[in-house]
Amino acid sequence: MIRLGMEIKVSLAVTTLLLCLFSVRGEYCKVNLCHNGGTCVTGVGDDPFICICADSFAGDTCNLTETGPCSPNPCKNDGSCEVISPTRRGDVFNEYICKCQPGFEGAHCQTNVNDCVDQPCKNGGMCRDLDGDYTCQCLSPYVGKQCQLRCISLLGMEGGAIVESQITSSSVHYGILGLQRWGPELARLNNQGIVNAWTSAAYDKNPWIEVNMQKTMRLTGIITQGASRMGTAEYIKAFKVASSFDGKLYTTYKADGQRRDKVFVANIDNESTKTNLFDPPIVAQYIRIIPVVCRKACTLRMELVGCELNVYSNTAGCSASLGMKSRLISDGQLTASSTYRTWGIDSFTWHPQFARLDKQGKTNAWSPARSNRSEWIQVDLEKTKRLTGIITQGAKDFGVVQFVSVFKVAYSNDGESWRTVKEPDTGNDKLFQGNLDNNTHRKNLFEPPFYARFVRVIPWEWHERITLRMELLGCDD
Ligand SMILES: *[C@@H]1O[C@H](CO)[C@@H](O)[C@H](O)[C@H]1NC(C)=O
Ligand SMILES: *[C@@H]1O[C@H](CO)[C@@H](O)[C@H](O)[C@H]1NC(C)=O
Ligand SMILES: *[C@@H]1O[C@H](CO)[C@@H](O)[C@H](O)[C@H]1NC(C)=O
Ligand SMILES: *[C@@H]1O[C@H](CO)[C@@H](O)[C@H](O)[C@H]1NC(C)=O
Repeated sequence: MIRLGMEIKVSLAVTTLLLCLFSVRGEYCKVNLCHNGGTCVTGVGDDPFICICADSFAGDTCNLTETGPCSPNPCKNDGSCEVISPTRRGDVFNEYICKCQPGFEGAHCQTNVNDCVDQPCKNGGMCRDLDGDYTCQCLSPYVGKQCQLRCISLLGMEGGAIVESQITSSSVHYGILGLQRWGPELARLNNQGIVNAWTSAAYDKNPWIEVNMQKTMRLTGIITQGASRMGTAEYIKAFKVASSFDGKLYTTYKADGQRRDKVFVANIDNESTKTNLFDPPIVAQYIRIIPVVCRKACTLRMELVGCELNVYSNTAGCSASLGMKSRLISDGQLTASSTYRTWGIDSFTWHPQFARLDKQGKTNAWSPARSNRSEWIQVDLEKTKRLTGIITQGAKDFGVVQFVSVFKVAYSNDGESWRTVKEPDTGNDKLFQGNLDNNTHRKNLFEPPFYARFVRVIPWEWHERITLRMELLGCDD
């Protein structure tokens, strides 16, 4: 009664079709007739059931052991096994060789190369080993892939590079019958004169002062100073910082790993300066200082410390893999609209966590439950990064070549409001040209690059079924 067996592996393309045409009957699989972890499927052609065998088993009921030096695959960590001809002169493992993924070595790819051994992170940066890569967690104000660059330029409050129109505030204090204007444009470090700082109005319960840097910059610190007015010292004792990319949506600064807003301790008199570092740095266009505790009045002179982004982006290339393949992006950071299960079987689920470039295995990509234009896969980068490109790849589902041939990209900073990447000239959603086969890497650049914490890929056209492996390119800047 059971005829399908070994040949199942070659006829699965046909099987997939058949499975769509026949309803699942189920009687035979109520008792699993397949051995060795095989999966029982009914409703395929004339056969009452078929067995899909686990690795290295074969036969109608998976009761036969597959033979051959590559079965089961002796190579670890997604390494691929190749049988080599017996005539080849070889070492101990003369029947096969393992081709390892980057970052793994050893005859069986069993060793995860420690990419941190050479201590690539400079200036106190902490190294974390990844699969075939490393990442440095830099101490502020150091930046760059290896923390080799210092981001400590004075951005121009004192020097004047930041002009009056870039500085705004929630309110302004007018002194001496309204003749003295303590405006935000005066909030410059070491500003001199009788009226030489910004002061918020006495009635203002939620004061703030803001600098629009006119483009996205990286800020590594702030220097603050009070002032004296009519012989009295006035200053900000403590403040918070908020930042924004667009001047609409603001994020209040939190230290790494903290859930509460960071409160910076500031000044203690009218004249001395206090430097606070942002660790991690803030990447934003708008920076807002929010006084929390003030002496007499919220009076401020200040300087911002940081650097331009593109200086470093150009030198560093800003085209590093952001960690789909290396697993810097963990499984928990990957989500999708839905997931597909081949033959409805749990162990053949095409999870978003599988959408890693070059992933191997039977189910080795993301695939949504239905293939239509409402589906998406999402990466949460956990902090805002500069995105410069994407590499996509298809896969095979039991022999059937599947890939995404056209896709859109959307991004967000809060995971709620999304923007789609547009064509710069027409303003239409950009349609990225994707893959043409099951394996080739296809790279697309984001021109211009964008900043985002969340990135979504929205498949637009596909071959057979939406199936995607990918890598994001960019840098921390
Ligand atoms: C495997 O199962 C088939 C059919 O059930 C049987 O004819 C065969 O002898 C079994 N082979 C082994 C090695 O057990
Ligand atoms: C302001 O600071 C200077 C220098 O420390 C000090 O001499 C002066 O007395 C201070 N003025 C007030 C009003 O506190
Ligand atoms: C995609 O499929 C779902 C479920 O069948 C459906 O609700 C949705 O409208 C479809 N979207 C498009 C764009 O076809
Ligand atoms: C799928 O990709 C592999 C690896 O590049 C290639 O050898 C194979 O021919 C491809 N299969 C099809 C059906 O295109």
